[in-house]
Amino acid sequence: MNRKIRVSPSILSADFTCLREDVLSVEKAGADELHLDVMDGHFVPNISFGPVVVRALKKITNLPLSAHLMITHPRKYIEEFIQAGCSAIAFHLESEGDPLSIIETMQRNGVKAGLVINPDTGVEVVKPYLKKIDFLLLMSVYPGFAAQEFISDVIPKIKKVKVLAPELDVAVDGGINDRTVDSVIEAGANIIVSASYIFSSSDRKYAIKRLRGKQ
Ligand code: DX5
Ligand code: ZN
Repeated sequence: MNRKIRVSPSILSADFTCLREDVLSVEKAGADELHLDVMDGHFVPNISFGPVVVRALKKITNLPLSAHLMITHPRKYIEEFIQAGCSAIAFHLESEGDPLSIIETMQRNGVKAGLVINPDTGVEVVKPYLKKIDFLLLMSVYPGFAAQEFISDVIPKIKKVKVLAPELDVAVDGGINDRTVDSVIEAGANIIVSASYIFSSSDRKYAIKRLRGKQ
């Protein structure tokens, strides 16, 4: 069950005045996909970017684009993100709308469907969806900002999910760095999202390699 670890840099900590260079630098440094944190200022206190930026990134990188929607109404915007070129999209189970219809819309369009839960949401609530989704994203910080402290309560949650759905891809997002990554990999996570650790590193190639776990 030792599957390949995928490293997913979140551009939230990139330098937006030279986004192209920053994206190409993590692509060259070995990233497996790009994590795009979309925030509406309503579901979370912060506002980031929307489909316009996703569409622009699609033109400059070959990396698969994985959107993390921190928005109240994912149903309303899902088609736009699909059209913008996302390969995968995850939305919060704490947001509004019928999760199954959103998941179905994505998969019908060839997009991988993910659900996200916050640190204070138990994994029990995702049980009815585990057979339908392509991946589960577990938050290890409260969403809204990069560079927050890792919340270790995510570890037992990863383990629980791996018992319920051993084959499911499990992503972890928030506070992942060289001090915290081994514990999430050991628990069973195989998609590692990281913003500040990668983008603040002077050696992004090393940072990405380190996030694949101790070799
Ligand atoms: C938080 C975002 C995360 C965040 C991670 O709302 O969903 O993807 O950018 O940032 P770090 O890795 O710095 O904790
Ligand atoms: Zn995220």
